[in-house]
Amino acid sequence: MMRKNISTKEIKSFYELQGESGDHQKGMYESGNIFYRWFQNRRRTVVESLIKQCNASTLLDVGCAEGLFIRFLSKDREYSFGVDISKPKLMRAKAYNNNYDSSFILTDASCLPFRDNSFDMVICIDVLRYLINLDKAISELFRVSKKYVIIQSATDPRKIFSSKIIQRDYSKVKKDFMLNPFDGELWFISSRALIRFNRHIDKDFKCSKIIGHFQIFIALAYRAIPFKHNEKILSKFIWIIEKIDNSLSTNRFFYHLGIFTTVLFKRENL
Ligand SMILES: C[S@@+](CC[C@H](N)C(=O)[O-])C[C@H]1O[C@@H](n2cnc3c(N)ncnc32)[C@H](O)[C@@H]1O
Repeated sequence: MMRKNISTKEIKSFYELQGESGDHQKGMYESGNIFYRWFQNRRRTVVESLIKQCNASTLLDVGCAEGLFIRFLSKDREYSFGVDISKPKLMRAKAYNNNYDSSFILTDASCLPFRDNSFDMVICIDVLRYLINLDKAISELFRVSKKYVIIQSATDPRKIFSSKIIQRDYSKVKKDFMLNPFDGELWFISSRALIRFNRHIDKDFKCSKIIGHFQIFIALAYRAIPFKHNEKILSKFIWIIEKIDNSLSTNRFFYHLGIFTTVLFKRENL
């Protein structure tokens, strides 16, 4: 049976359940086969290296889950905030980040309880495609940031020539939406749309760096490889594709083919 609609309440209870069922970030970055782990950690290290390049002493992570980025961010920084919609994840984030000057707040990304320009840097990593109020969330990210915004999202290489964010057709979302996290995706975002996010707001942010990950032919190769579970062969394969990915990930044409794109927006007068 097809669904007509998805409510905010259902979305909330989905993330609540997801949080109760285990450590979400451990699941992403430490489990699965070697290829999956490589891919997840690759997008993670790209974010961390961008953060290191910026001069930011106060930080906000929107959709922080268990606060892994906060742990990384908090070193040598004044303070960090993490927000998420899932209480169990935030409880873990609090426990894990005990030693750092950080705080966690249960809130929706589209309604951030902070004043304008509250943080030097705001990051939002793999969250936007799950949000009902996407437009509002985008403007919130830029509103509360003083200097930098880093956004990472899955992007759809089939939409290479489109500058539109495309909402998923609710009528095609299956009834078991809440049981299948992949069906939780509400938006298809093209890389062209992503790098224009700053145009949603009338602040002087410009897109300063774009990095695409996991180009399409690599994704295809992943599907094709018959030795998915042979970690030795796979690690050699990964070594090769990492070299290719490294050389293409900042190329103007190829980053549009990435299935994940990371963008650093910077205030123009910095
Ligand atoms: C795929 S996870 C990414 C977690 C983390 N940013 C990372 O990249 O490791 C998406 C996160 O967004 C959170 N989330 C989903 N909808 C949200 C919303 N409306 N407001 C705030 N957080 C939300 C989820 O609870 C989850 O922790």
